[in-house]
Amino acid sequence: MPVHFDAQSRTFHLRNAQVSYLIRVLENGTLGHLYFGGSLSEAGSYGRLSGREFLGFSNRLGQPIALECPTPGIGDYRVPALAVEQQDGSTALDPRFVGHRVFDGKPAIPGMPTTYVQSHDEAETLEILLVDTPASLEIRLFFTVYGDRPVVTRSARVRNVGSVPLTVRCAMSASLDLPDSEWELVHVGGAWARECHVRTRRLEIGLQAIGSVRGASGHGHNPFLILRRAHTTEESGEAYGVSLVYSGNFLAEAEVDGFETTRLRIGINPEGFSWNLDPGAEFCTPEAILVYSDSGLGTLSNAYHGLYRERLARGVWRDAPRPILINNWEATYFDFDEARLLEIAAASRRLGIEMFVLDDGWFGQRDGDNSSLGDWTANRDKLPGGIEGLARKIEALGLRFGIWIEPEMISPRSKLYVEHADWAVGVPSRPRTEGRNQLVLDMSRREVVDYLFDVLSDLLGRAPISYVKWDMNRNITEPFSPSLPANRQGEFPHRYILGMYDLYDRLTRACPQVLFESCASGGGRFDPGLLAFAPQAWTSDDTDAVERLRIQWGTSLCYPVSAMAAHVSAVPNHQTGRMSPLATRAAVAFFGVLGYELDPGALTDEEREAVADQIAYYKERRELFQRGRLLRLRSPFAGDGNETAWMTVSADSQRAVVGHYRVLNRPNRGASRLRLRGLDAGVPYRVSVWPAGDDPVSAANTGIRGGDELMRIGLLVASEDPADSRHLGDFTARLFNLEAE
Ligand code: GLA
Repeated sequence: MPVHFDAQSRTFHLRNAQVSYLIRVLENGTLGHLYFGGSLSEAGSYGRLSGREFLGFSNRLGQPIALECPTPGIGDYRVPALAVEQQDGSTALDPRFVGHRVFDGKPAIPGMPTTYVQSHDEAETLEILLVDTPASLEIRLFFTVYGDRPVVTRSARVRNVGSVPLTVRCAMSASLDLPDSEWELVHVGGAWARECHVRTRRLEIGLQAIGSVRGASGHGHNPFLILRRAHTTEESGEAYGVSLVYSGNFLAEAEVDGFETTRLRIGINPEGFSWNLDPGAEFCTPEAILVYSDSGLGTLSNAYHGLYRERLARGVWRDAPRPILINNWEATYFDFDEARLLEIAAASRRLGIEMFVLDDGWFGQRDGDNSSLGDWTANRDKLPGGIEGLARKIEALGLRFGIWIEPEMISPRSKLYVEHADWAVGVPSRPRTEGRNQLVLDMSRREVVDYLFDVLSDLLGRAPISYVKWDMNRNITEPFSPSLPANRQGEFPHRYILGMYDLYDRLTRACPQVLFESCASGGGRFDPGLLAFAPQAWTSDDTDAVERLRIQWGTSLCYPVSAMAAHVSAVPNHQTGRMSPLATRAAVAFFGVLGYELDPGALTDEEREAVADQIAYYKERRELFQRGRLLRLRSPFAGDGNETAWMTVSADSQRAVVGHYRVLNRPNRGASRLRLRGLDAGVPYRVSVWPAGDDPVSAANTGIRGGDELMRIGLLVASEDPADSRHLGDFTARLFNLEAE
């Protein structure tokens, strides 16, 4: 039984072989937190861990008490997990334990994506009921522990059981009190084309937070953070992860108080948020996913990867091999017609590519980024047979067909705007900020979601469309919906996300065969909420191989390789102007869902041959790349960032591919070895190098090598032989294939 209740000490113990989570009902009925970390024995009694007797907060002295659901007004001076305003304007809440329930499996959250179980015995859920009597507020906290993952999921629901309205001001998905503050906070963020760079800082007394108030999880920060010990590495040491299954405004925050304890909280950002709770109404938070590892960041990431790949992603594409696609965006931008697209498609087919994706510019009068969003009918000047005609011709070439849409947007220059200017988000009495010449549709309105569902399900139903790239190219700057009364405007950002999820839900159900890929100018909304509907995302608009090393490394802290679309593009690269070798571009994109984003007609014969080889190589190892266990070996964020290395290993450890990348070449640099991980020490592996070469490094590694040797001594990634470096140049990559003998 993963959830055990000791009635005498009123202690709950959620446990499996990897983690334990301990909660105790304190003497006065407040819900205390005892422990989250490595697994403790089931037989133990842990009630004494609450330290001193707890009689409530009046005249409180000394160290703060660890709480599961901290609220204002009880003498706890740290940031709350829940604040609800009452009729008299007060926000004090003193929720006390009323009862609990333990059940198999895991409940869904109405209107929101969550991780799930496939069979009821995979996980057990503890539901705890707290009540604040003066406010007539019922609080239900949900904790789920999976049988075989170092994961605890949390969410909360609050219900007004009284007769007067209440207003939720803050409702976190999880709050976790830790007994010390000897942690480094790691998070990933950046900006457009620089997504998910890893940032690390020591926790200090005070508040340290990441978040978003732009209506989407955003390019700036990702709804995910890690606390790690200073000595924690990829393979050893403690770390906690918190990740939020949500795509909108979020806050993830660590507070260190004067006693150097740490409170970690994550949930919908309270900034700009409020939710009216009429009598009888309930508010549900999104789900937070907590992971604990005492064997480094690698174990932490692998726990997220497995959970998000297997129990967050849904539908046929969850487990199916993802197709290798060509996207015409960087090949043509807005300038194409049907003949041009068919030319690209035919050339791609000859290279072994499996799907053609038509990007922006196919609809309305869309010849640039200044019109037609909302008018989802094909431009017949460009596509005389419409989308149906083009899709059929693409299929006749032996490729599947995919299409780009940006459903949540409206261009002021569009037919939709002429008909429904009032559907655009904004404050009617003020100017509306345009971003990329466009406005955002009010997804909080049912009629907007219904309209989009009708238009898009019609489009997807009429033509053989196998894939949709769902883009979102600007954030919300004036959050306001005229359809909501004044006292409900604080609900708008969350209602927008609920509307967006509703549209995704209806479309993915109506078109279960379609593979959805999410995109927001690259990784501007790369989060677990969307992975539930779209199992892969466009990781970044930056397709430069060197830049991608950092982006893909950072993204992999939380997200699986199967979620990261990665394309080989032309040089000079369109974002950086960099000239990197074709093999390097592929060797980086292989550690993602491979695609191409270039004009195959512009390649030389030799390059075309190389691309065909790349595709054949990837197809042979697709499962290994897309679903293998990723191990990060050398970080582009460490030292001078000149080297990156990672590897993917099959579940049975029989096959692996190691990627080693060097940004700048340096002469006379001495030998360097790269130790591998995750192999079977007792197994001999046949090592080969890609691309094959007769250089000293390839010669030194090729042949049979024991798993023990590869893990303890490693592969030679730079030799002392000057011949190795003399002809190498910059931006190089080598892949090492390992096959058990
Ligand atoms: C965004 C996407 C790109 C491309 C363009 C089209 O920037 O991230 O991949 O689809 O829109 O306008």
